[in-house]
Amino acid sequence: MIYLDNAAGSHPKPTVVANAMYRAMTELGASPGRGRHALARHTASLVEQVRGQLARLIHAPDAEQVVFTAGATMSLNMAVFGWLFPRGGHVLSTSMEHNAMIRPLRSLEQQGRIRLELLQADRWGYVDAAELLHHIRPDTSLVAISHGSNVNGAVQPLEEIAAICSRMGIPLLVDASQSLGLLPIDVQKLDIAMLAMAGHKALYGPAGVGALYVRPGMELLPLLSGGTGGQSELPAMPEEYPQHLEAGSLNVCGIAGLGAALDFLEAADPGKIYQHCMKLCAMLADQAAVLPGVKIHWGRKDRPRLPVLAMEIYGFSPEEAAEALDALGVCVRAGYQCAPLAHESLGSLEQDGLIRFSPSRFTGSEDIRLCVLALDKIIREKDGSR
Ligand SMILES: Cc1ncc(COP(=O)(O)O)c(C=O)c1O
Repeated sequence: MIYLDNAAGSHPKPTVVANAMYRAMTELGASPGRGRHALARHTASLVEQVRGQLARLIHAPDAEQVVFTAGATMSLNMAVFGWLFPRGGHVLSTSMEHNAMIRPLRSLEQQGRIRLELLQADRWGYVDAAELLHHIRPDTSLVAISHGSNVNGAVQPLEEIAAICSRMGIPLLVDASQSLGLLPIDVQKLDIAMLAMAGHKALYGPAGVGALYVRPGMELLPLLSGGTGGQSELPAMPEEYPQHLEAGSLNVCGIAGLGAALDFLEAADPGKIYQHCMKLCAMLADQAAVLPGVKIHWGRKDRPRLPVLAMEIYGFSPEEAAEALDALGVCVRAGYQCAPLAHESLGSLEQDGLIRFSPSRFTGSEDIRLCVLALDKIIREKDGSR
């Protein structure tokens, strides 16, 4: 099997991830911070260690500002509802967002709580930072953008956008689901207010675990309320982080897996993984572009992009192409990739989206060669049947 759907969830995981999860499952069954016994303390110390690893990765000023969640969707919902529900105002986002960002924003818009304005990306998927400046209003209460596109890999000009937000005093929410683990992110240097992280993509952790970084001083209404393992006498959620946003029992097993994944990532060097995956995407783009009827959508060559490449193949619907490739053992993602508005910008909405290819640290050049052969075969067979 050739797995090229790593932007949805990386596979395989490093062996150390499965080992750490097994160890957590068999040896660390206690609820962290909820008992005075040794097992609860050991479990809590593992959780805090992983929190520290994530904080180092994003250069957070304080590990306590990193809150564990069930994934980037939950992180984005917590950020969007937690910040905007009590405040309202005008919100700027982009046409390149995943539904995990757009749907919570739209929900608040439909409730009449915010005015949502979406900056349209160009046909390569990039938004213009100067245009953002133009659209800021006196009551703009949030700028919400994804760092790198999960559709065609376009990487937004985060430094410029962050500099504008910082200068204007507008909180910036960044969805780093696709970029974290591939590109460096420094939340302090960029003065990012909130950063959503997914554990199961380029961080190589398991699904069902993610995190939200919240800048000190941001006042967020907790989306969830419940037990926090301490200060149980309070009628409401404690003010201190991470407890303020961390209601309920944590996914210790997932957090243990994420910790091992972050160790793996550090040892493998995210910069080297990025170069490896970019080289594979460049191979795929070069070799597939000469096949009849193939059009590549992969950001722009002269702009930053992620190793997430999409294609359209003349005469195939994306679903049909993905099923034909699957029959040859190649796993790719077809359709809108949960980002329908991005396809409007890229011009692929009418044709039901695109086929997406995303390699990982575990993909090799032989996988790409076989994928191109499979593409060639499905195209030739289709041509033969016409
Ligand atoms: C850009 C982007 N944001 C958010 C998400 C949601 O992430 P999770 O699966 O961790 O909830 C994804 C996952 O597909 C994504 O690609």
